[in-house]
Amino acid sequence: MTFQKNYSLQKFNTFGLDVKASFFTEINDQEQAKLLLDQFQNQPIFILGGGSNILFTKNIEGIVVKNNILGIEIVDKNEENIWLKIGAGEIWQNLVQYCVAHDFGGIENLSLIYGSVGAAPIQNIGAYGVEVKDILENVIGINLENGQIQTFGKEDCKFGYRDSIFKQTFKGKILITHIVLKLTLKKHIFKTDYGDIQKVLAEKKVKNLSVKIISETICQIRQSKLPDPAVWGNCGSFFKNPEISEPKFKILQEKYPNVPSYPTQNGVKVPAGWLIEQAGLKGKRVGNVGTHEKQALVIVNYGNANGQQIWDFSKQIQAAVFEKFGVSLQAEVNIL
Ligand code: EPU
Repeated sequence: MTFQKNYSLQKFNTFGLDVKASFFTEINDQEQAKLLLDQFQNQPIFILGGGSNILFTKNIEGIVVKNNILGIEIVDKNEENIWLKIGAGEIWQNLVQYCVAHDFGGIENLSLIYGSVGAAPIQNIGAYGVEVKDILENVIGINLENGQIQTFGKEDCKFGYRDSIFKQTFKGKILITHIVLKLTLKKHIFKTDYGDIQKVLAEKKVKNLSVKIISETICQIRQSKLPDPAVWGNCGSFFKNPEISEPKFKILQEKYPNVPSYPTQNGVKVPAGWLIEQAGLKGKRVGNVGTHEKQALVIVNYGNANGQQIWDFSKQIQAAVFEKFGVSLQAEVNIL
């Protein structure tokens, strides 16, 4: 294992921010992870996945570890299902492509989400009516405090909307090494009722649904409205969609009869992108930072903006939405 000093993380975060880590290393397997823990006992360790959900506002003191644990392994199989154990360092979209190529179902709505496999359960990635919790069986990781390997079942993960135990009690305390997914081999259950999926399928004149067709459709929809981070630095949705109470929603709906909404257990979820757009901030730019012109929920680094400037801009958005609607937006990305 080699250690780099004062190392730029620019290549390792999709906002493209040039912050430095005091120390940087990469791990390729569980053994290296354990060695690292022995060597850096009681020192701050920050585990980096794909860097696609993180806003660095300053240099990182301590050691930043890029998780490169790879591999896709079949661990079980029956007539209907297959269980895959996947290394946390795999790129999520590569895993999706692997599943599409083998016609393994369940993951197709999560196509083209940036980031690594290990990061997926942390924020319970979700899109087009599916969340990773729907296909996840286990998360395997090393407890950074005692070096023990721990396996978390689905229930242990305490999944919620863009939330899990790895963002709460175990925040920064588990180095996820693998996840296990349960996918379908036949009788795939396709979820096509979200947003534009049916419309695009009709345009494509699709007669028979397949894992491949759904994946291609989702990719097409995402590419039409989300900026490619390889071109424009961004982290996807910057804020979570806020959940508001039923009475508060009724008041909003009286004023804006077309407000989109999704009922939840405790109230109603309203798209943050819609609130930002209604506040007149879709495509708004301040210097080199702005909201995307096709999806107001995405904040884009249009040039050499730094993390602090992006953070300040996000606070302006929060303030404007709060002033207009009395609704607080919470960041979805981790701000460091
Ligand atoms: N909308 C607007 N203006 C905008 C953006 C959206 O009016 O600028 C409206 C749309 O017209 C639609 C509604 O808001 O009626 C929802 O929009 P969309 O389907 O684009 O989804 P979203 O709620 O903005 C969420 C996820 C995305 C995910 C999509 C599709 C969150 C925070 N974001 O966005 O996830 O791809 O649904 O499932 O839940 C991500 O987390 O990085 C991400 C991209």
